[in-house]
Amino acid sequence: MATKQETQQPQVDASRDGASGGDTLSVTDNRTGKSYELEISDGTVRTMDLRQIKVDEDDFGLMGYDPAFTNTASCRSAITYIDGEAGILQHRGIPIEQLSEQSTYLELAYLLIFGELPTPAQLERWTFDVTHHTFAHEDIKKFNEGFRHDAHPMGMLLANVGALSTFYPDAKHIDDPEERYMAAIRLIAKVPTLAAWAYRHSMGLPYVYPDNELSYSENFLSMLFKMENTYKPDPRLAKALDVLFILHADHEQNCSTNAVRSVGSSGVDPYSAVAAGVAALYGPLHGGANEAVLRMLRRIETVDNIPAFLEGVKSREEKLMGFGHRVYKNYDPRARIIKKHVDEVLEATGDNPLLDIATELEKRALDDDYFTSRKLYPNVDYYSGLIYEAMGIPTDMFTVIFAIPRTSGWVAQWMEQNEDPELKIARPRQVYTGRRDVDYTPSEKREGPEKITGPPAKRPKRPRRGA
Ligand code: ACO
Repeated sequence: MATKQETQQPQVDASRDGASGGDTLSVTDNRTGKSYELEISDGTVRTMDLRQIKVDEDDFGLMGYDPAFTNTASCRSAITYIDGEAGILQHRGIPIEQLSEQSTYLELAYLLIFGELPTPAQLERWTFDVTHHTFAHEDIKKFNEGFRHDAHPMGMLLANVGALSTFYPDAKHIDDPEERYMAAIRLIAKVPTLAAWAYRHSMGLPYVYPDNELSYSENFLSMLFKMENTYKPDPRLAKALDVLFILHADHEQNCSTNAVRSVGSSGVDPYSAVAAGVAALYGPLHGGANEAVLRMLRRIETVDNIPAFLEGVKSREEKLMGFGHRVYKNYDPRARIIKKHVDEVLEATGDNPLLDIATELEKRALDDDYFTSRKLYPNVDYYSGLIYEAMGIPTDMFTVIFAIPRTSGWVAQWMEQNEDPELKIARPRQVYTGRRDVDYTPSEKREGPEKITGPPAKRPKRPRRGA
């Protein structure tokens, strides 16, 4: 069971300076009997301090081993705070509940990147700048034409975001604040356009250009669905989408953000670093859970089948998708907010029978000791897929839509990283488990099975695509 320390991120205690305040950890190396005092600062020890712990002078020194960084802080950050035990999420100190009710996605993007809420004049300028960089270069359309009609839109987005670095080569001057600002603006402005064009391509529909008279979320809906000149997005859907954008904007050092920081630490331009984030988000363990929730609800089919489904989960035949979280061991605060918007969206789009199944499934799971004892509560993805589906967005696009708001989080984290005096190229160590000092064997002296073994014989056949 997760302890408070496991789910709450270390915080900087401004009243105490770890170095001079005497917070230390005493360690005795039982191999040598020697004792060491390691400084504790902000609830952490520096693993580099372990290096002094050696068996003898030739010893490399002790390292930390932490696959998946489950207990390693990779950076200092002032952007997003999470207390998973208490179900708290704050951006720049402001609770997500207040942001989702009172702010807009673009204002939040400003807050994430610049650290403060904008003044009205700053917000006006920021909104103007983002709105007037939404057009993508015409050559991107040609680039898109190279994709097959059934190309996954996330693969297209990934390629297109990376390609932006070739359209804006000056972005490589990452120490130039103006270039950094332009890259931030361009990424936040153009990712919705690239995302919508990926969708239109997959539908065989003509691309829709951005409409600078519309709000950020209205414009995205317009680029997805516009078929005649008169298209005006339903304000209830635009509002719900804006809230979803707020809820997905940043979530501290998650897999894709870590990818952006790791790639960005090489000094590459921000488009390439953000493309790494898109690639990480593409993975089903990260961005794809809401799609899995919809598949699960469809499979359950009726409310009557819920008890049998839950029995299957409890006997570990399957998972209750959209439940559980690595960090939240309480109701994910974003799930609570999304739930409130589901009804508004369905009012605009018509009932979805899957909602009845989702609501009843949640109720029964939360009444069941199996789930509560394991601290399994709905996460952000439990209801978001229902909203996207109600809006008429196909499931392939769900992860793409996640990437749109997360772009501001990636940009904010990339900006913060580039101002970090401790920034170094990310380069983890390894525990080497292979052989050493092996002599090269000439080909004719190598022994092994005569028959060349290929891939497993039972590998399922996939239809070949093209030459
Ligand atoms: N359904 C049933 N049982 C679950 C579930 C679930 N969704 N999630 C965790 N458990 C059980 C595990 O079997 C384990 O039980 P045990 O202690 O008896 O073995 C216990 O709860 C702890 O689970 P872990 O796997 O240790 O939790 P972890 O933090 O590693 O996993 C994760 C978190 C991957 C999100 C997991 O809860 C899961 O797979 N959930 C479903 C997928 C999902 O909704 N992902 C979206 C996450 S939100 C996001 O990425 C934007």
